[in-house]
Amino acid sequence: MRLFNSLVTSLKRSSLAPWGRGVIALAGVALLSGCEWWRMDGHQSTIAVEGQVAREQLHVFYVTCWVSGVIFVLVGAVLAYAMVKFRARSDADEHAEPPSQSHGNPLVELSLIGASVLSLVIIAVPTLKAIWSTYDVPEAEKGTALEVTAVGYQWWFKFEYPTELATINADAKMPLVTGNELVIPVGRAIRINLRTVDVIHSFWVPKLAGKVDMIPNRANHLWLRADKPGYFWGQCAEYCGDSHAVMRFRVIALEEKEFAEWLEQQTQTARSVVARVGDENRPRAQFAALRTFRQNETGVTAQFDINPLESWRALQVPDARTEDPVLIAKGRELFGSKTCLACHSIRGHGAAGISGPDLTHIGSRSTIAGGLLENNREQMQRWLHNPGVVKPGNKMAKGYRDNNITLTNEEEVALVAYLESLK
Ligand code: CUA
Repeated sequence: MRLFNSLVTSLKRSSLAPWGRGVIALAGVALLSGCEWWRMDGHQSTIAVEGQVAREQLHVFYVTCWVSGVIFVLVGAVLAYAMVKFRARSDADEHAEPPSQSHGNPLVELSLIGASVLSLVIIAVPTLKAIWSTYDVPEAEKGTALEVTAVGYQWWFKFEYPTELATINADAKMPLVTGNELVIPVGRAIRINLRTVDVIHSFWVPKLAGKVDMIPNRANHLWLRADKPGYFWGQCAEYCGDSHAVMRFRVIALEEKEFAEWLEQQTQTARSVVARVGDENRPRAQFAALRTFRQNETGVTAQFDINPLESWRALQVPDARTEDPVLIAKGRELFGSKTCLACHSIRGHGAAGISGPDLTHIGSRSTIAGGLLENNREQMQRWLHNPGVVKPGNKMAKGYRDNNITLTNEEEVALVAYLESLK
């Protein structure tokens, strides 16, 4: 800060023109605020990549930039040279006849054609190589690759693990389905089938791979591999209606062992918190009434933003001390009576709707509302209270309207308690 103050003071005292001061001030602020933008390591950076496919795509980008940069400098230099050398130096120059016109210089023209072809070849070789290698899982890894199907909905992502069976009840299993958070093992190739149930979406995890469109009646796919454990931001990259900009998802990459534990937990039916006799006399959990949110107010805490992977891990383990079994039982009952189960599945709790995200383990996800809000009690209630404000045009808001669903603050709190208990 002292550095900043002295910079401002010396600028004020300097004899520079205002625009000169402006330029220096901007450069100073850029340097001081520094590293963040300079490293270009935002959540959705395509420059600071962490996976093989994204790295190959970045390589093509750099090759293209360098070739274009060299052409820009050379052409600019020749142009500047011609402008200076052949400018009109006197009145006589300006009124002189133009020099005699010729067809051109064959040697120069042939060299220019040769240079153009050469630069195109320099770009084409790595481009074709990358198109080939990023298209599908390498042959040698096909046996060990994990297959996942991502399905686009307006405006969220469903993830299916077709080779992993999840329990519905004592006699039945189905392929594992989750929503908005794709959990994968580190170092292994992941093949993602891309589907959509409505309009065209596009699957993009900038730090890992992308983007490939999800097109109705067309079986697209992509593959990716994460270098190390991490928490990655994904985004629909094709305009798909009102809430396209907030159609997000996450990819969580874990070491094999942690991934296997997660898989084991996800394939179980939903957790049941049973209220026992006497529970109604226990001290009740305290929930505040819903506060007012500003329009477009961010739904993420600073703590979560700093270390999302740790925040995600913390959500995997239920914390019975903060749970209220009576409230949870009330929420479970409301989930049926308010017809939430017509759209959402909760395996083991008798809910089997398919038009909304599967909620069997919603309490263990780090985000809700298609990756827009952090998954905590406050944000969950914000979402349940008025989904249409959070995500304009979404089907849950329409469901509320069409079925005349209204929720009191108490009902919202009970539903929140129930959903958050589903680890
Ligand atoms: Cu889905 Cu944009």
